[in-house]
Amino acid sequence: MILLSPKRRIFLHSLWIFVLFYPIMRFIGYTIPKKPVYVKIAAPLPVGGYQLTSDFILFDRDDNCWALSRKCTHLGCKLHYSETREILECPCHQSQFNSSTGEVVKGPAKRSLTLLPVEKRETSPYYIVTT
Ligand code: FES
Repeated sequence: MILLSPKRRIFLHSLWIFVLFYPIMRFIGYTIPKKPVYVKIAAPLPVGGYQLTSDFILFDRDDNCWALSRKCTHLGCKLHYSETREILECPCHQSQFNSSTGEVVKGPAKRSLTLLPVEKRETSPYYIVTT
């Protein structure tokens, strides 16, 4: 008979619970929700302007501002913005997305880009984007 210390016994019980429930949680699609990250933009954008960050692109036009994720919905490459054509384009497989709505213009991507919540303010920080 093997004698276990109370700490080790608690650890092994916890391990068993994890081993039993983890596949079930994966099967039903449960994921631990991510904590929101608030990105503050200190400077106001020019009229009709936009700002590229590593994670999103922020637009401010006609009293309407919105932010789109720069992560391609096909395989996750980082999108580039074509100002002349007003589309977000993927350098990996050339998917294209509408810069106003995030909808797919050209595949292989099938899902639209994530539209991120933006809070516009009168003083600095002028924009707070929740990623
Ligand atoms: S990763 Fe963007 S189109 Fe394939």
